Amino acid sequence: MLHNSQSWLDDELEADSSFEEDPQPQQYFSLRAHRLARKPPRRRSVKKLLEEGLKDPKAPKFSDPGLQELYEKQLFSELLWELRSGKEATVYVVRATEKSWPDNPEALLAVKLYVDSRVRSLKNDALYRQGRLVSDQRMKKAIDQRSDYGISAQNILWVEEEYRQLHALHQLGVPVPRPVAHAGNAILMEFVGDEDGPAPRLSEAGLSREEAQEALEQAVHNLGLILSAGKIHGDYSTFNLLWHEGRVVVIDFPQMVEWDKNPLAMEILERDVRGLCRTFGHLGIHPKPEAVIRRVWQIAHANPTRYTPMEVSYL
Ligand SMILES: Nc1ncnc2c1ncn2[C@@H]1O[C@H](COP(=O)(O)OP(=O)(O)OP(=O)(O)O)[C@@H](O)[C@H]1O
Ligand SMILES: [Mg+2]
Repeated sequence: MLHNSQSWLDDELEADSSFEEDPQPQQYFSLRAHRLARKPPRRRSVKKLLEEGLKDPKAPKFSDPGLQELYEKQLFSELLWELRSGKEATVYVVRATEKSWPDNPEALLAVKLYVDSRVRSLKNDALYRQGRLVSDQRMKKAIDQRSDYGISAQNILWVEEEYRQLHALHQLGVPVPRPVAHAGNAILMEFVGDEDGPAPRLSEAGLSREEAQEALEQAVHNLGLILSAGKIHGDYSTFNLLWHEGRVVVIDFPQMVEWDKNPLAMEILERDVRGLCRTFGHLGIHPKPEAVIRRVWQIAHANPTRYTPMEVSYL
């Protein structure tokens, strides 16, 4: 699906002569490679999540309550393997059920499981929390004081928030994994990939120059659609964009902000655009941030919703 290609992008890209001599080393990761990929010590292994040596059939199957809840609700039948551990969460692959994925109960799904916020390090947490409304005063106080209650409340707020954003973007038609359910620290969603493996991130997909240009068009288009809903991703780069069957799929939303609730929204949008341009630089194409941000606004205004912000002057 080409988005108005041969137009703004052709004019704005600077030719990169080094690209031909510098092929991308990253190829499609095998599942095994994914399983062996980064494994920070905080991650919880599949083995640890499955309670061992269960004698009591009534005892929970999983040590994580969110995972256990999703299992008890029959939203997945089996925990298959660990896909990837990030800074804040580990993503696992599970087998769907009739209830969670009626089209194909044998399908694979992804579960993103957050670590406890005591050990979380989300970049500049306060920046993102600005403008996030915590209406319950008792909860707000507990969060501010970082009491145990506050920490678990905050964890759940983060997960709910990510799920809410995922859901809203899916409704809007932005290509994101289809959300299925959330419980505790876990989010259950569509697995982007197939039985042979997960979709690679753009950063590691080994894209040709032509594919990278197409991916950039789509990435910018998606950012514009997200802005049309009055939202900003907050960590938009080739590391949070997957490449699946010629399409860019956007993931990872815990730091999304809303235009009318966060006074730093403009800065965060500009930072997203710079991050996108910088990381596309590693793929051998060098879009100019000023051109990209103009295009993002154009796309947002071409697809207005009642939340679409007014463009701000850049002079
Ligand atoms: N629905 C999905 N389908 C396929 N792969 C996924 C899915 N969700 C996440 N992944 C993979 O898991 C990785 C980590 O997911 P995500 O970016 O949401 O978590 P994170 O904790 O923010 O990780 P990081 O710190 O690496 O950004 C992604 O880079 C991607 O490779
Ligand atoms: Mg990520």
